[in-house]
Amino acid sequence: MASLRRLDQLLSNLGYCSRSEARDWVKAGAVTIAGEPAKNAAQKVDPHTVRVDDEPLDHPDGILLLLHKPLGLVCSHDEREGPNIYSLFPPRWRGRNPVVTSIGRLDKETSGLLLVTDQSALVHRLTSPKHKVPKVYRATLDRDVSTEWIPLFASGTLQLEGEDAPCAPAELTFIGSREAELTLTEGRYHQVRRMFAAVGATVLTLHRTQFGHLKLEELPPGKWRELPLSEFD
Ligand code: URA
Repeated sequence: MASLRRLDQLLSNLGYCSRSEARDWVKAGAVTIAGEPAKNAAQKVDPHTVRVDDEPLDHPDGILLLLHKPLGLVCSHDEREGPNIYSLFPPRWRGRNPVVTSIGRLDKETSGLLLVTDQSALVHRLTSPKHKVPKVYRATLDRDVSTEWIPLFASGTLQLEGEDAPCAPAELTFIGSREAELTLTEGRYHQVRRMFAAVGATVLTLHRTQFGHLKLEELPPGKWRELPLSEFD
């Protein structure tokens, strides 16, 4: 049995309208509960039985999705930082509470797999350094790779500029003479770019292919795939 929620609060938390607008919508007959017009915006309802303008509610239980983040968008909600990934989603999601947010971030000029959710406990769990979720990145570089980097990255001693603690051991493999795959279990600011900078290489392109057990596969940039909320249980 789904938990019952106050109708006006439910519509407001799912980004449909304010609580006072919910009262107007109920009066106007735009909201039904199990096929019957809602009587009162304060009534307790099972979210799965509610329809607005004859449509079921949008993700009443929560959101978890795997996005192929395109280049050129930031993960910040702050519009002053430029166009963001939230512009890819239905405008209604911007009004949701809890907010829809990315699990960790990718730089504006990094593409690839990004998880997006409104489940704050999941954000904390998957971004906590304690959990050591492996993330796989493909980087193209401005110079030829060196086999000396492999033991250095794996050693747990690589020091990033301006940081006290060295990077956790990371696995580096080579795809081509100027292309590498790097698996990290932490997520420091600009970490991949800074690790390569520490060995004298500049990252020209960066793309994340994997987060934990999840892979991007053939998903095109800007598109997403829904995941069950239980994906990481
Ligand atoms: N490392 C980076 O340098 N950038 C990212 O976006 C992710 C990891």
